[in-house]
Amino acid sequence: MKKITFWGTILLAVCLTLSISSLAWSDSRSDDGSSHGLWSQQEAASQVMNKTYQNECSACHFAYPAGFLPARSWVKIMGTLENHFGENAELDATDSQEIEQYLTAQAGDQDPGRFSRSFMRSIDNVDTPLRISETAYFRREHREVPSGMVLDNAKVRSFANCASCHTGAEKGSFNEHEIVIPDHGRWED
Ligand code: HEC
Ligand code: HEC
Repeated sequence: MKKITFWGTILLAVCLTLSISSLAWSDSRSDDGSSHGLWSQQEAASQVMNKTYQNECSACHFAYPAGFLPARSWVKIMGTLENHFGENAELDATDSQEIEQYLTAQAGDQDPGRFSRSFMRSIDNVDTPLRISETAYFRREHREVPSGMVLDNAKVRSFANCASCHTGAEKGSFNEHEIVIPDHGRWED
């Protein structure tokens, strides 16, 4: 009994230290808007923090987390905006540079979050995917989602519309308990 209390106290102390230090870290890094504590990064995969990125890249779709693609993918996407999935999404040089800098600095190769790590592990070193929705990890995670709930669903239409099912996506959360498929309801595993 004594032994258990002893280890319990140690564990509590470790937890407290960890949470205090991650809070401190997030405080010290949050003012430049580029990062947020280790703890929150692991929980809430790469919340979008750059205003220019948010403004310019969410006109047609949700602003995807930088951490879900490697830096080389973002460079390729930013270099081909005039022919972007059949659309012209070209930007002026200043905005384009700022966004590319933000995306590559927060890209999956730099992001310690657990989802980012899973995405990165599933992408071959020689590949430069332009879509998150075509990576092996994405396919694996969504293989049980019937295409009728996506392609034939006027409120979703495409797997690229992350935020129509992941209700926390705009806040950077892809937690499986926050998934609601429009017209089909909460996803129960
Ligand atoms: C003019 C509209 C438009 C703008 C602006 C736009 N996009 Fe897109 N984007 C699209 C379309 C259309 C698709 C394909 C969506 C689909 O397949 O349903 C797409 C898809 C993507 C995808 C792949 C999604 C996936 O995983 O399937 C990424 C990544 C992406 N865009 C990044 C960006 C970035 C970065 C910017 C800002 C520089 C941007 N987009 C601005 C229209 C746009
Ligand atoms: C049609 C609704 C739908 C869309 C659109 C969708 N997802 Fe999902 N996503 C799901 C469902 C449902 C699951 C859980 C699947 C399971 O548990 O079998 C899931 C799981 C995930 C997971 C793993 C969650 C965990 O806790 O393990 C991640 C990460 C994820 N999705 C990211 C994305 C991203 C990024 C996009 C957009 C590029 C996206 N999803 C688009 C429905 C969707």
